[in-house]
Amino acid sequence: MYTIVSANFLAENIKKFEIEAPRIAKKRKAGQFVMLRVGEQGERIPLTIADSDSEKGTITIIAQGAGKTTRELNEKQAGDSINDIVGPLGTPSHIENFGTAVSIGGGVGAAIAYPTAVALKEAGNYVITINGARSKDLVILEKEMNSVSDEAYITTDDGSYGFHGFVTQKLQELIDSGKKIDYVLAIGPIPMMKAVSDVTRPYNIKTVVSLNPIMVDGTGMCGGCRVTVGNELKFACVDGPEFDAHLVDFTNLNDRNKIYRKEEQASDGSYQH
Ligand code: FES
Repeated sequence: MYTIVSANFLAENIKKFEIEAPRIAKKRKAGQFVMLRVGEQGERIPLTIADSDSEKGTITIIAQGAGKTTRELNEKQAGDSINDIVGPLGTPSHIENFGTAVSIGGGVGAAIAYPTAVALKEAGNYVITINGARSKDLVILEKEMNSVSDEAYITTDDGSYGFHGFVTQKLQELIDSGKKIDYVLAIGPIPMMKAVSDVTRPYNIKTVVSLNPIMVDGTGMCGGCRVTVGNELKFACVDGPEFDAHLVDFTNLNDRNKIYRKEEQASDGSYQH
């Protein structure tokens, strides 16, 4: 059992948890994730480690209540516990001093863009962050993103805060302004990551995305998380989750993620009633 030390909503439906997991806290690196099971009978879900404190022995995860398991998780409070947590899993982000690095988080993707922005900053990059959300009340980690950024931008689809438009429009604006960008990391919904990779491709800007396929074991055994990258079959849980955006087959990823949609909706529906 893993005890929840603190739990707070960052926005409607998006909750941040600090959980006691000392061994994971000590080992984890930016870009890695954990697989957790909320209760004994529950499914295992992957969640990126947004932060950790090796002295306190805690890890931070951020979950958006999008289906049965994540909504069940988001009902947990400080003092409750999580049945099991395995990690850290996945290959850590490849971090070096690229020069100017842009870390883009769409929605809850900011939870992953943030730790990588921290690591990019520590490696000596000039860090630009673009934190996008549908509206002002859904913007998360603004303070944290500001603290690691040389330039920080917020975009909202409805213009209620920051730049009115998509993260891709802000990125294009930066490129058009003549800023030399050496590296882009984009994390968020699949259409957003695809759109970012389409913006950077003509300029040959190295672009990395963190993929979110369905995962079962998280250790390379089940094949559930297979993705096509550069016409090769990869397992996101061990070969990724980060991959060269310009080589990812996003259509295949999108189709595979919909495979269990009917079952997911049925399970979510039965949970509500
Ligand atoms: Fe099973 Fe990746 S989740 S191989």
